[in-house]
Amino acid sequence: MSSSTQTARTAEGSGDARPADTSTSVAETGTGTSGYAISQYPDVPAIEARLHHLVHSPLRALPPEALARYEAWYEQHATASKALAAEAELYIPGGVQHNLALNDPWPLAVTAAEGAYLTDLDGNRYIDFLQAGGPTVLGSNYAPVREKVLELLASCGPVTGLLHEYEVKLAKLIHDFMPAVQRFRMLGSGTEGVMAAIRAARAFTGKTHIVKIGGAYHGWSDQVVFGMRLPGTGALEATGIPAGALEKTREFPPGDVDGLRALLAAQAEDGGTAAVLLEPVGPESGTHPAPRDYNARVRELCDEFGALLVFDEVVTGFRLGMGGAQGYYGVTPDLTVFGKCVAGGYPAAGGVGGSQQVMDTFAGGLTAAGKRAFTGGTLSANPLSCAAGYHALVEMDRTDAPRKAGAAGDRLRAGLDALIAHYGLPYVTYNFGSIVHLHTSGVLHLSLSDPDFFTELGPRLDMLGQMSMAYAAEGVITLAGSRVYTSMADTDEVVDQALAAFDRVFAQA
Ligand SMILES: Cc1ncc(COP(=O)(O)O)c(C=O)c1O
Repeated sequence: MSSSTQTARTAEGSGDARPADTSTSVAETGTGTSGYAISQYPDVPAIEARLHHLVHSPLRALPPEALARYEAWYEQHATASKALAAEAELYIPGGVQHNLALNDPWPLAVTAAEGAYLTDLDGNRYIDFLQAGGPTVLGSNYAPVREKVLELLASCGPVTGLLHEYEVKLAKLIHDFMPAVQRFRMLGSGTEGVMAAIRAARAFTGKTHIVKIGGAYHGWSDQVVFGMRLPGTGALEATGIPAGALEKTREFPPGDVDGLRALLAAQAEDGGTAAVLLEPVGPESGTHPAPRDYNARVRELCDEFGALLVFDEVVTGFRLGMGGAQGYYGVTPDLTVFGKCVAGGYPAAGGVGGSQQVMDTFAGGLTAAGKRAFTGGTLSANPLSCAAGYHALVEMDRTDAPRKAGAAGDRLRAGLDALIAHYGLPYVTYNFGSIVHLHTSGVLHLSLSDPDFFTELGPRLDMLGQMSMAYAAEGVITLAGSRVYTSMADTDEVVDQALAAFDRVFAQA
């Protein structure tokens, strides 16, 4: 529970050095020279000032003629997707099963993914800045990992329900990169990882409350559908969830360390706080960017109040670097939640790791007894996911993929900044390496306390869909029109091609 004395693979000082206790597996396969994706930390106060200006500026959306041209492009070039989307509506609720999918004017159906590109059913090729929502730092469908997965499938199939060597190899590799992860439990998704972390934190501390930052997404389990997307929204989106499930969940405003202290102090008198759950770069992958010293300050507060610090590294591990955000910031969490990269872009991607003491609450098997935080999953920790994750991480380390993807993010962000300045737009862009934010409507930065909130929400939300549609028609798929994940496959040529597409869109705004 207390600040660990272990040496994380930090970005400071000894930077890229092996963790102190690494004596084994990484060296077998990796070069050990991979580094961190963030070349320069975002200037958080300056970004916040620009975001404030964005939400208080008139919308710079695309005019109706431009939107009509883009819609016409879809009518002409995306007809096969349109037909499949129509059929999907007959059998799938809303016709879409991916929350991050592009739905304006209809979902695009993808048939091929390779490196930096996606191809749709109509044969259109796009630069893929969604990267499946983040897991594929090596680029989509990376052949060396695919080959290992195919070998595994040929030998034992995807699942047996019994221990497989790849489970151990993956857990050991994660420990090598993140020494604080002494024990690792592989699960089916980031959502499950968060559920498990919360349960273990309560089992270990005997305390009740869970604290999260407003605006953060930590999956869709009952306890964390709270304060999502916009800070201060509390249970607004908790349809179908009984109030009791959220009774012990609290949110506090992004960046507000004093607010967190007050909350922890109040809860100390009322059952105590089991866990403070956060994304180290800030909620929604840094949509509200965290100041550089933020995580260290929260670590101190957790130690003071006896709460576990849980890093949700579903996006940042291992996108920020093989040491994750904990290595980059040099702050050791008690528990780390994994998703996405941990299965290298293959299903099922999730898990939780931490100190032996805390993790022992998960002990599995028929004979486990005592104070146990129950977890399960028939297909969890299957050989396929573990093999994919293991080989993806080895390859990411060997190829220095996080840093290369980060360099692509830097180039893209610099180019976007230049375009924004050139066209005099209020848009805001910044990046944490390969996590690039591009806020054009500011909808995610609206404040509930703003008297204009309800009049601004609709048009600003609509604009996101419109921008996302325009980018796609120009050949670039983004994450919901406001975020971009770059990968190692994004060469300078790919990035410049993307910038030309953004240029064509911005020129019309
Ligand atoms: C920070 C964060 N935590 C948790 C999750 C949930 O992970 P999953 O979609 O694997 O359930 C996500 C998903 O995007 C995420 O971004």
